[in-house]
Amino acid sequence: MTQRTLVLLKPDAVRRGLVGEIVGRIERKAGWRITALELRTLDRATLEQHYAEHVGRPFYEPLVEFMQSGPIVALVAEGERVIEGIRTLAGPTDPIAAAPGSIRGDFGTITRENLIHASDSEESAERELKLFFPGIA
Ligand code: CMP
Repeated sequence: MTQRTLVLLKPDAVRRGLVGEIVGRIERKAGWRITALELRTLDRATLEQHYAEHVGRPFYEPLVEFMQSGPIVALVAEGERVIEGIRTLAGPTDPIAAAPGSIRGDFGTITRENLIHASDSEESAERELKLFFPGIA
């Protein structure tokens, strides 16, 4: 089943020079393709829409601040079961709990600064692709 998903490389990934490493892991999965990619700085309005489900949680405000703290890389990946697959490459939210070999397990320590966002379902992917890449979604 070919799918499309939205990936964000968070400001920590860009600051630490991990863009190539993370993009490379996505590119090396057989048959997956990156069909859009852009370095950009997010504004609060976009983040409020993107993280609407987290409004009111204790981590929400620091998360929105952090996500504006520097440029991110937004990309669209396409391929066989790519939604589930990139979540697996990323590992769980808490980087200390994430297995070595996953992006968060290999490079992260702090839950907020967990390097990567990837859509968690087909519905989220559709909504997030429209928000970040309205021209192609
Ligand atoms: P992600 O799963 O991509 O989307 C929600 C983000 O909120 C998550 O990554 C983390 O960056 C952040 N987050 C989730 N839970 C916590 C938490 N308990 N403490 C700090 N940040 C969190």
